Amino acid sequence: MVGIFMTPGKFITFEGGEGAGKSTQAELLRERLGALGIRTILTREPGGSPFAEEIRHLLLDPRHKERSPLADALLFYAARHDHLTRTIGPALEAGNWLVSDRFSDSTRAYQGAAGGVSGDILETLEKWVVGDRRPDLTYILDMPPELGLKRAEERRGHDAVDGFENLDLDFHKRLRQGFLDIAKAEPERCFVIDANRDIDAIASEIWRICEKRLIPEAVTK
Ligand SMILES: Nc1ncnc2c1ncn2[C@@H]1O[C@H](COP(=O)(O)OP(=O)(O)OP(=O)(O)O)[C@@H](O)[C@H]1O
Ligand SMILES: [Mg+2]
Repeated sequence: MVGIFMTPGKFITFEGGEGAGKSTQAELLRERLGALGIRTILTREPGGSPFAEEIRHLLLDPRHKERSPLADALLFYAARHDHLTRTIGPALEAGNWLVSDRFSDSTRAYQGAAGGVSGDILETLEKWVVGDRRPDLTYILDMPPELGLKRAEERRGHDAVDGFENLDLDFHKRLRQGFLDIAKAEPERCFVIDANRDIDAIASEIWRICEKRLIPEAVTK
C-alpha cells in the first residue's frame, strides 16, 4: 500500500538493440539519482526476480535456436509478471525509484516488429501483465545495428553468443525500426538517444531529460 504521505517512486526503462549502452547508462543514471539522495534500484529484463532470472537462463540459452517468437513473448511476459509482482511493484510502493535495463518495449521490438508476433497479442499481454504500471520515462538508445553488434562482440570476448545477438542483420534493422516506431507512437514517455557518441555525452543528455521530466515533480510533491 502507498501511504498517504509517501510518494511512489518513478519507473525508468532503458531500451535499444544489442550493445547500445543500456547497461552502462542505466548504472550511470542510478549513480546520479543516488547522489541526489534518491534511493534507486537497478533491475533488468529478462530477469529481475529469482523466478524471472531462471526464465532468463532459458531465453538466453543459445542451444534453443528453433523456438518461435510467440513462445518467447509468452515467456518474457511470464518473467515480467514475476518481476513486476516481486521487485518493481514493491520497490515503487516503498518510495524507491526503479531503473530497468529493458522492459516491455523490448518484447514489442524483438518479438513484435522484428519477430512477427501480432501487435494485438502483445497489447493483450501488456494490458493483463503490466496494466497501468507503465514506465514514467523510457530511453531508447539508438545506433546502427552493425555498431552495436560489434560493441557487444568486443565486450563478450570468447564467451558464447546468445540467441538474440546471433540473429541476422536484417532482424536487427527491423528491431531498430521497431524501437523508433514505439518512440514515435509514445513521444510523452519515450526519448530516442543517439547512442553513437561517447559515454559521458550520452549520460549528460539522459540526465538533462530525467531532471526536466521527473525531478521537479518528485521534489515539489
Ligand atoms: N558510448 C559508448 N561508446 C563506446 N563504447 C561503449 C559506449 N557505451 C557502452 N560501451 C561499451 O560497449 C559495450 C556494450 O555496452 P553495454 O553493455 O552497456 O550495452 P548494452 O546495451 O547493455 O548491451 P546488451 O544488449 O548486450 O546488454 C561495453 O563494453 C561498454 O563498455
Ligand atoms: Mg546490457
